[in-house]
Amino acid sequence: MGELEQRILSHLQGRLSKKRLTHTLATAQTAALLASRFGYDPHKAYVTGLLHDCMREENLQNLLLFASKSDIIIRNEEKQSVSLLHAPASALLARQAFGADEEMFWAIRWHTLGKEDMTTAEKICWLADYIEPNRTHEGVEEVRQLAETDLDGALLRAMTQSLRHLRETGAPLCEQTVKAWEFLRNTMKNGAKEKS
Ligand SMILES: [Fe+2]
Ligand SMILES: [Fe+2]
Repeated sequence: MGELEQRILSHLQGRLSKKRLTHTLATAQTAALLASRFGYDPHKAYVTGLLHDCMREENLQNLLLFASKSDIIIRNEEKQSVSLLHAPASALLARQAFGADEEMFWAIRWHTLGKEDMTTAEKICWLADYIEPNRTHEGVEEVRQLAETDLDGALLRAMTQSLRHLRETGAPLCEQTVKAWEFLRNTMKNGAKEKS
C-alpha cells in the first residue's frame, strides 16, 4: 500500500465505525476491479473508493459548516440529511486533505444522488458502492453479473432498483436521481437503436 493510501486509512480509522471501514475497503477494491474492466485507472478508482464516505459519520451540523466554507453548490435536499450531505462534504475533504483531482472529486460528490451524463469515474464509484461484496440488498446479484461485462447496463439496473426501493419505502425521490436514471436509460435506448 502506498503512502497516500496509508495516510487516508489512518485518517479513516479514527472516524469510521468498523462496519463502515469494511464497506469502504470493499468499495475501493471493487472500484479498482471495475476500473481495470472498463478502461479506467484502477489506482485512482481505488483511492476514490477509499475516500467516498470519509465524512459519512460526521453530524449534520458539522457537514453544513464544512460545506459552507467552500464554493461547492449543495442541493436543498442534501442539506437535510447526512446520508446525502456526506457526499459533497467527503469530496471536499478528499480534495483539500488528500489531493483528489477533478475526476475523483466529482465521482465522490455524485456517489449518492448520481447525475445526468456521468463520467466513467462517477459510474464506477456509484456502482462499486452499490455492489461491493458486503452488500446484500435485493437484486444486487443481478447487478454484479451485469457489471462483469456492461458498466452502463449494471448502473441502469442498480439505479432502477434503488429508485424502486425509495418508492416502496415512501422515501422522497430526488429529482436529480430520477434525471440521472432517465438520461442513462435514453442514452442506452438510442445506442441500441443506432446499432440495429
Ligand atoms: Fe456514501
Ligand atoms: Fe458507501
